[in-house]
Amino acid sequence: MDANKMDTLLQEQRTFHPPDDFQVKANFNNPDIYESALRDPESYWSEQAQHLSWFTPYESVCDWNPPHAEWFSGGQLNAAYNCVDRHLTDGRKNKAAIIWEGEPGDRLVLTYDMLAREVNRAARMLKDLGVERGDRVTIYLPMIPELPISLLACAKIGAIHSVVFGGFSAKALHERIVDADAKILITADGGYRRGNVIPLKANADEAVEDTGIDTVLVVKRVGAAANASMKAGRDVWWHEISQSTSAAPLAAEAMNSEDILYLLYTSGTTGKPKGIVHTTGGYLVGANTSMRSVFDLKDDDVFFCTADIGWVTGHTYLVYGPLSAGATTVMYEGSPDYPTRDRYWDICERYGVTILYTAPTSIRMFMKWGSSHVEQHDLSQLRLLGSVGEPINPEAWMWYHEHIGHGRCPIVDTWWQTETGCAMIAPLPGLTVTKPGSATRPVPGIDADVVDEEGNSVAPGNGGYLVIRKPWPSMLRTVWGDDERFRKTYFGKFDGVYLPGDGAHKDKDGYIWILGRMDDVINVSGHRIGTAEIESALVSHPAVAEAAVIGRADELKGQAITAFVTVREGVTTSDELVTELKKHVVDKIGAMARPEEILFAAELPKTRSAKIMRRLLRDIAEGRVLGDTTTLADPSVVDVLQAQYKEAD
Ligand code: WTA
Repeated sequence: MDANKMDTLLQEQRTFHPPDDFQVKANFNNPDIYESALRDPESYWSEQAQHLSWFTPYESVCDWNPPHAEWFSGGQLNAAYNCVDRHLTDGRKNKAAIIWEGEPGDRLVLTYDMLAREVNRAARMLKDLGVERGDRVTIYLPMIPELPISLLACAKIGAIHSVVFGGFSAKALHERIVDADAKILITADGGYRRGNVIPLKANADEAVEDTGIDTVLVVKRVGAAANASMKAGRDVWWHEISQSTSAAPLAAEAMNSEDILYLLYTSGTTGKPKGIVHTTGGYLVGANTSMRSVFDLKDDDVFFCTADIGWVTGHTYLVYGPLSAGATTVMYEGSPDYPTRDRYWDICERYGVTILYTAPTSIRMFMKWGSSHVEQHDLSQLRLLGSVGEPINPEAWMWYHEHIGHGRCPIVDTWWQTETGCAMIAPLPGLTVTKPGSATRPVPGIDADVVDEEGNSVAPGNGGYLVIRKPWPSMLRTVWGDDERFRKTYFGKFDGVYLPGDGAHKDKDGYIWILGRMDDVINVSGHRIGTAEIESALVSHPAVAEAAVIGRADELKGQAITAFVTVREGVTTSDELVTELKKHVVDKIGAMARPEEILFAAELPKTRSAKIMRRLLRDIAEGRVLGDTTTLADPSVVDVLQAQYKEAD
């Protein structure tokens, strides 16, 4: 975030109290909860764990051997049982579990009973295909009902799912399949996005070459227009084998609390994505608790999380959180502006959405489109709004409050990460006074703080590193296959203290204002991308000698990707090369990593020890006066670049 924006953010004075009627009815409305949970987090979490069904009760709540935590040891449970089967006998059998809307307009409602049957069937299909407890199943699907069904089917038989977002390229998918050593891949012939067909199967065909995948299970989503080809002996159609597979009740595997539920790959500071490991008991307790605390979930709520299940927000707040709490979760396949810009509001009105959870980048887009699209719809059922993915600027917060919430709905700005599993810093809507732009304070049971370089808590009014001091149930357990990386990345700076990688400010009331990443990770439209990943994609092109990538502040997307590239000797730079390099990055990673701009440079600014000074590149890209250049090996390099950049603008 640039310095000016940060100053404006920190001058925000407005406060919003929970409305009285909301407070009275809120699940969490006793302020003592913060204090008591902080004093005795184990009792707090153990109390929350009672909201799940355990096959075998746990013996201890938390065993903490930094940086490794075990939660609810000795306990046995099953995530799919908790999300589905148990609701067949708790009065929710015929309640809508998933309300699904496809982009072309097709609709489907799955009651808990119907969902249970589909999960049983899919679980049997996986078993028949040879999937066993502990095996990894990679899932590369569009936002169709088979996606949550696949997750739950894996969970039911104790297989570990690894979902790869459908926007990732074949190469990115390949890398994740290999790292997880997955046995089978579940994909679709294609998916819809803004009326176009995404060729998922073609990507999958390329991705599974030279991997351990011997079976590809293919959902027919698009049909002929997808032009998918099936490889005999390897590919099987979902709809064909499902016809001959029973949907009758199937006993859920009793999983140990610490058995892995899923892997989810996320970007870090090096080129290789990290497989974040989440385990069964702790993750589910975290997800379930936050539904009741942060989202104040009631039995008649209709919960609409707009994220894709390919990201952690979709895992926790489309699938495991809402379903474990017996809620109705709304799932939409497509884009918010297809076919018209009121698509979300139409969905909210038609299904009577009561809780909406979306990202600041979308809110800024809605602002840009104007409120007329919203005003066509009756949003009176909405009672709570959530935000996630990046810092929400106060203007977007206020617009959300006024135009979507009509001043009536509390806003929960939720800070968390793939690694944390569930919301960590967020208001409790019936208790916490909110300030536009601040995620407010850690939720009960979470001991977060802002510290200086030495790890000391900063005084109110200061900034530093965001940290989490104590373990929590849904924390990542390790990085798949690389425990050393887990230790170094998250616990390497402060002993036994978790380092998320975000910078934060603590105001005079102790409120936390997240300022963004402090490492080489950028956040484009709420998607987290490592600059090193894009750089290595660029450098793998034969024309490129060297590349430096930065996130430039962007009104709409939060950050936009700018790449500075030096070409190899003999290569002539051209607009065609720019186009080709952008395409190359899309092929290597996916469309969300496409650089917005590529600037050719004769040289990149480096220190005498040959480290690229990204800070100066950011100054150039954001049109600022250059910061300190005295450590540069050749200060003239930046002057040339700056002149060039202005010209290109
Ligand atoms: C950023 C998404 C400010 C942050 C759940 C974090 C946020 C990264 C917020 C994790 C928020 C997420 N305010 N920043 N409310 N929520 N972030 O793993 O930089 O995709 O480290 O998880 O997003 O991104 P991830």
